[in-house]
Amino acid sequence: MSFLSATLARVKPSPTIAVTTKARELKAAGRDVIGLGAGEPDFDTPENIKAAAKAAIDRGETKYTAVDGLPELKAAICAKLKRDNNLEYTPAQITVGTGGKQVLYNALMATLNPGDEVVIPAPYWVSYPDMVLLAGGTPVTVEATIETAFKITPEALDAAITPKTKWFIFNSPSNPTGAGYTHAELKALTDVLMRHPHVWVMTDDMYEHLVYDDFKFCTPAEVEPGLYARTLTCNGVSKAYAMTGWRIGYAAGPEALIKAIGKIQSQSTSNPCSISQWAAVEALNGPQDFIAVNNAMFKRRRDMVVEMLNAAEGLTCPVPEGAFYVYPSIAGCIGKTSPAGTLIADDQAFATALLEEEGVAVVFGAAFGTSPCFRVSYATSDEALKEACTRIQRFCAALR
Ligand SMILES: Cc1ncc(COP(=O)(O)O)c(C=O)c1O
Repeated sequence: MSFLSATLARVKPSPTIAVTTKARELKAAGRDVIGLGAGEPDFDTPENIKAAAKAAIDRGETKYTAVDGLPELKAAICAKLKRDNNLEYTPAQITVGTGGKQVLYNALMATLNPGDEVVIPAPYWVSYPDMVLLAGGTPVTVEATIETAFKITPEALDAAITPKTKWFIFNSPSNPTGAGYTHAELKALTDVLMRHPHVWVMTDDMYEHLVYDDFKFCTPAEVEPGLYARTLTCNGVSKAYAMTGWRIGYAAGPEALIKAIGKIQSQSTSNPCSISQWAAVEALNGPQDFIAVNNAMFKRRRDMVVEMLNAAEGLTCPVPEGAFYVYPSIAGCIGKTSPAGTLIADDQAFATALLEEEGVAVVFGAAFGTSPCFRVSYATSDEALKEACTRIQRFCAALR
């Protein structure tokens, strides 16, 4: 009998690790590798936020806090949800965790029983299905195709719901596609959910502020107030405030669920870092104008990458509404052979050959549940992006 748990056996190792490990090996061997795999902004946390953390240290805010977050941070989160999302929450309806990831995980741990199903649109953020499995549930994926710009249809959502469905996980703008649902598109999904009162909504709004052109972000409980009582609105400071390393995420929802999430946290990690919580208070309450400045840069990069990838032979790249990812299809490359002799049988072979032959690290689509595609993160310098896209074009042109 294995020493390791049966639960662990249900979870697969991250498929993205193969690419990242290979990229690291090649770099260590002196190869010129451009990494387009990063899931974080390539700039530093704003100065006012760093200053708030330093001040918290100097004030001696270095002790345990309330398990599910400082009252000051909960107040800042309530104010943010009102300001940005027109949602009314009281501090008792807020929980703060060590990153958005922990909040999502705790929520699934607090609610899933064996046999419970969780509907997840694909392409999905790699952690959703495995978190569901760790919590003893069953992930049910609903695939979105490039024809619908990687957004699921109301009909597909309806067909995936069964009497066993407990949660619908929603993520807009999406990691890995950057796809953002308009108000009308989201309303069509919430109309379906209104017909299934046993299904709860876990919305992961992590990329809320990273939207371009005139796209307007919206979240399920805002679009359909009828869902408020069965929605967990999850968010965090990692992406918009360039605070991935600080590890602060939060959720708002019905008080009983929020208490249950806090109970899991109280017996596992206790409070998130006290200093990071004070930094997050400043992030949410302080000036927000740098977000627009960063977004102008991200939009410029997105436009350049989409244009260059669409010019590559065999690639089709939709223009996403947000986040800092694009998700091109490689359907036109499948079945061809690379100059070094690799058959491009699937997107994993494409990513491996691209890395070995041109030194560009991307994450293949199968990791996100939808093939044949790959994910590019454009949270890197303009020069590196331009060079990487030039190499991708060369790689595609050389396929026979
Ligand atoms: C969609 C999505 N949700 C949640 C997270 C986790 O965020 P955090 O770093 O706050 O745990 C990420 C990070 O990559 C993400 O892409």
